[in-house]
Amino acid sequence: MSKKPTTKKEVQTTGHQWDGIEELNTPLPRWWLWTFYATIVWGVAYSIAMPAWPIFASGATPGLLGASTRADVEKDITKFAEMNKAVEEKLVATDLTAIAADPELVTYTRNAGAAVFRTWCAQCHGAGAGGNTGFPSLLDTDWLHGGSIETIYTNIKHGIRDPQDPDTLPVANMPAHLTDEILEPAQIEEVVQYVLTLSGQPADATKAAAGQQVFVDNCTVCHGEDAKGMVETGAPNLTDDIWLYGSDVATLTQTIQYGRGGVMPSWSYASTGTARLSEAQIRAVASYVHSLGGGQ
Ligand code: HEC
Ligand code: HEC
Repeated sequence: MSKKPTTKKEVQTTGHQWDGIEELNTPLPRWWLWTFYATIVWGVAYSIAMPAWPIFASGATPGLLGASTRADVEKDITKFAEMNKAVEEKLVATDLTAIAADPELVTYTRNAGAAVFRTWCAQCHGAGAGGNTGFPSLLDTDWLHGGSIETIYTNIKHGIRDPQDPDTLPVANMPAHLTDEILEPAQIEEVVQYVLTLSGQPADATKAAAGQQVFVDNCTVCHGEDAKGMVETGAPNLTDDIWLYGSDVATLTQTIQYGRGGVMPSWSYASTGTARLSEAQIRAVASYVHSLGGGQ
């Protein structure tokens, strides 16, 4: 059998024929055949050397070379943790108010703090920290609980109304005036109209006038004489156009009828005993939030 058959005679046939048409037995090109064998050898060798067959409950056969992408990632994490160790130790040792004066810490907290924020905070406070319904914006100076770096830090560390953390910020809840029978439905209707006037929204004048007395008797104790809110109680300003839950009649009625008590989770305490964020991460994200524009 020659490599390059020139006439039909030199090619072997399989012996099959139909209506005089014969099936030729043309050999595979040698280069192709050897490549094919080589891939088989490679495949067997690879599955012995590297993790390959998923036959164990715990995972695949480990392979003789001990390769593991998980271990590679862990090595990388350890490497970066080593690299950041010095600056993190400095961050933990520095007074919170002095962080902004240290250029190295400023660079570190802007980057590390933003990374923590994207991972742990954005789902509630929004990717740009602009807030969502029930979750306050962290960009403005309208703080429910205070905007100094120490206050921001403490509120992140222990949360707000987080029942898991004994050191959480112990602020009041907005009471459920209907459920707890503090007000009659008619009084709630009136005070809703009065609250509308506080932020300059159109309202029923007669009901609003009656609602003013309801407000003085029931609401100023937490929201303040001027209705501008109080950091001590965590009650928001009702005279501006920034709303945590909403300023339409339906939402106001719901807030006053059933109350509110937004929970900001604690990041240093969990019932499992493991903190969700390290001290350095909490300081980094506190400095980051403080730097967003509303810091006091
Ligand atoms: C599960 C949702 C949730 C997550 C996640 C969350 N927060 Fe909050 N956060 C809240 C709520 C709700 C409030 C408002 C509590 C209230 O109604 O008084 C709040 C309040 C705050 C406040 C106080 C704002 C003010 O006006 O005084 C700060 C600061 C804050 N969060 C920072 C963070 C940071 C930083 C993270 C990430 C580490 C984070 N939050 C993650 C829900 C969340
Ligand atoms: C015990 C203190 C307390 C009293 C009394 C109280 N509030 Fe509140 N109120 C709060 C707190 C705290 C919040 C914020 C709740 C939160 O952050 O989840 C709030 C929230 C609100 C909101 C939501 C504001 C927004 O931005 O969406 C409205 C509206 C409101 N209160 C109206 C009233 C009215 C009207 C009364 C009287 C009938 C009243 N509150 C009485 C503490 C109080």
